[in-house]
Amino acid sequence: MQLAGPGVFGPPKDHAAALAVLREAVASGVDHIDTSDIYGPHVTNRILREALHPYPKDLVIATKVGAKRGPRGSWEPAFSAEEITSAVHDNLRNLGVDVLEVVNLRAMFDAQGPAEGSIEAPLSTLVKLQREGKVRHIGLSNVTAKQVEEGRSMTEIVCVQNHYNLAHRSDDALIDRLAAAGIAYVPFFPLGGFSPLQSTSLTAVAEKLGVTPMQVALAWLLRRSPNILLIPGTSRVEHLRENLASAELELPADALGELDRM
Ligand SMILES: NC(=O)c1ccc[n+]([C@@H]2O[C@H](COP(=O)([O-])OP(=O)(O)OC[C@H]3O[C@@H](n4cnc5c(N)ncnc54)[C@H](OP(=O)(O)O)[C@@H]3O)[C@@H](O)[C@H]2O)c1
Repeated sequence: MQLAGPGVFGPPKDHAAALAVLREAVASGVDHIDTSDIYGPHVTNRILREALHPYPKDLVIATKVGAKRGPRGSWEPAFSAEEITSAVHDNLRNLGVDVLEVVNLRAMFDAQGPAEGSIEAPLSTLVKLQREGKVRHIGLSNVTAKQVEEGRSMTEIVCVQNHYNLAHRSDDALIDRLAAAGIAYVPFFPLGGFSPLQSTSLTAVAEKLGVTPMQVALAWLLRRSPNILLIPGTSRVEHLRENLASAELELPADALGELDRM
């Protein structure tokens, strides 16, 4: 999401830097990239293709459908069968692939979080596209526990991508249920998103360990549950390196206790 222009709209300020982030990520062993054709729109997927196509065999690109952008960048729902189908075709074309490895059906959310309501109609369109061989795996995004259950009653759900980080933990019970079911949980806004995490406890823990608060936030997520896959967004190679290093960071028990109390 950070590889498109300001407000996730239009081209990035620095096209070469966006290519460099992607190439270094893959060269460093990253094998999971989250994207969507609504980023730009179409901009991020085309940058991905330019930077990495032909893709390494083990790279999983996960994309999302269920939204579109207004002429000034607003985020609008796009759940009709026609819109879901054309979004899948846009992703195939812009990424330059014959099949999409993971497609998340992205429901709408507001400041209160995901809204309840059946996802049956758009999900059945995605299942149809999967049967046609255009989509390998299906995931859900911005969903409630009830919607996850509805989705699982219709098809195999491989991942759930919701808002979750040190300061926003309303999905705690859902994460544990998904872990027990062998379903990946992919927290978006792992660093706080548009308002980066800021906390005196977080800063104090980071200072004690000699690392940055963002590295602590990511290390905490990695240890939160074995089914968590991280997708911190960055447009900068320096931040990419810093974020990758958090995988090696051991959080001692007293630091974990401090963070859990946040
Ligand atoms: N399903 C959905 O509805 C949904 C919603 C939101 C996001 N997402 C996905 O989740 C991904 C992650 O969310 P996000 O990118 O919005 O938020 P995020 O990962 O929580 O934070 C990204 C912000 O943190 C900055 N940043 C990254 N690494 C940093 C570091 N080491 N130190 C300081 N700042 C750092 C980035 O700026 P720089 O570019 O300067 O590094 C950017 O401003 C997105 O990229 C997108 O793929 C999905």
